[in-house]
Amino acid sequence: MKQPKDYLIFPLDVSTAKEAGRYVSLLRDSVGVFKVGLELFINAGPSIVHEIHKISTEARIFLDLKLHDIPETVYRAMQGIASLGVTYATVHCGESKKMLEAAVKGAGGKVHLLGVTVLTSVAKEDLRWAGYDASFTEDVTRLVLKKAEMAGKAGFAGVICSGHEAGQIKNTCGASFLAVTPGIRPIWDVPKGDDQARVMTPARAIQNGSDHLVIGRPIRDAKDPDRAARQILGEIEEVLKK
Ligand code: C5P
Repeated sequence: MKQPKDYLIFPLDVSTAKEAGRYVSLLRDSVGVFKVGLELFINAGPSIVHEIHKISTEARIFLDLKLHDIPETVYRAMQGIASLGVTYATVHCGESKKMLEAAVKGAGGKVHLLGVTVLTSVAKEDLRWAGYDASFTEDVTRLVLKKAEMAGKAGFAGVICSGHEAGQIKNTCGASFLAVTPGIRPIWDVPKGDDQARVMTPARAIQNGSDHLVIGRPIRDAKDPDRAARQILGEIEEVLKK
């Protein structure tokens, strides 16, 4: 059965393997999935995946490199990712069906692919500025759903989306299509000047249908990160009981 910690994805948004290892040791009992993003991957290299597994054999790893390139390049990069032993990897939904299908082919069934729909830090004004059609800028959910459909049709396991869209994504793409949600802020910690434009609490996101929550700074920057993670698990446990 899915445990509260399985909902929790902690992004290792640090620049060295040593710092990452410190967080993995500290949080391995409260976090189900550790996310390796561009900062850590560029600084520590692919061996970081093995380093994390050495500390926690149980931890699942989410390689968040947000690929977006020509189909052949994405295919070859994804083959490399698949050989690393990670559970999840991201690709921008972008514009190309062929690129998404190339990612699925490269993953060879070894990695669950998640499509990046619209970054949760992106607001209406940003989409207007980028020249998107008014039907999308005035209704960001419409754009997210469009991108989720593209990913689903290509054979992706799910998408990254805000908690506001999770329910509708399930309705459109099916109940087993994963909704992975960043931009989560526990009620007790909404930082000032936060760059996440579409934020939500863990409880609300799960009620809305999110399968996994990416929660970084509220844990990473807490005085006691393990305590912060456990407090979030408590909030998740409460909502699962209802
Ligand atoms: O909780 P916090 O805002 O610190 O989480 C930031 C993490 O969420 C980063 O690793 C970032 O890459 C990731 N993320 C995001 N928005 C997305 C997808 C991932 O902020 N749409």
